Amino acid sequence: PMQRTLAVIKPDAMEEHKEGILEEIQATGFTVAQLKETVLSKEMAEEFYKEHRGKPFFEQLVEFMCRGPCTMLVLTKENAVEEWRAMMGPTDPEQAKVTSPNSLRARFASSILHNSVHGASNEQHAEEKIGFIFGEICTDAESNSD
Ligand code: CMP
Repeated sequence: PMQRTLAVIKPDAMEEHKEGILEEIQATGFTVAQLKETVLSKEMAEEFYKEHRGKPFFEQLVEFMCRGPCTMLVLTKENAVEEWRAMMGPTDPEQAKVTSPNSLRARFASSILHNSVHGASNEQHAEEKIGFIFGEICTDAESNSD
């Protein structure tokens, strides 16, 4: 199915890899439906990653995500959620280097925390995070059918 997902270029990748990542996104057949560069506040980063609240790395994650600008993207493609996750590779770049050496994280990430990119984990999260970052109403007919 045609899908959209939320993708983030994180602060560690913004200076050196933003342009290259954007080019690869387009070359892989994604359409960039929306794009904005923003510095997250602490409150926004905590809300964005609320699913990870309580984990041992949560404070570090929030601090890292606020340390400079991020690029926020809405990407559209067939199976966009999975396709973007495949393009990112596994969360941990050491694992990514083994299993997905061409992935963005294998090439650009420096640690499991500073891992260059983020992607929504499923369609529901994608719509929720798009709404949160871009301030839209969810318009997906299927997810509203109850
Ligand atoms: P992301 O895919 O954005 O989802 C949650 C983020 O938390 C993850 O990428 C990493 O930036 C970070 N993260 C996940 N696991 C760990 C960990 N074990 N140690 C430090 N940071 C982590």
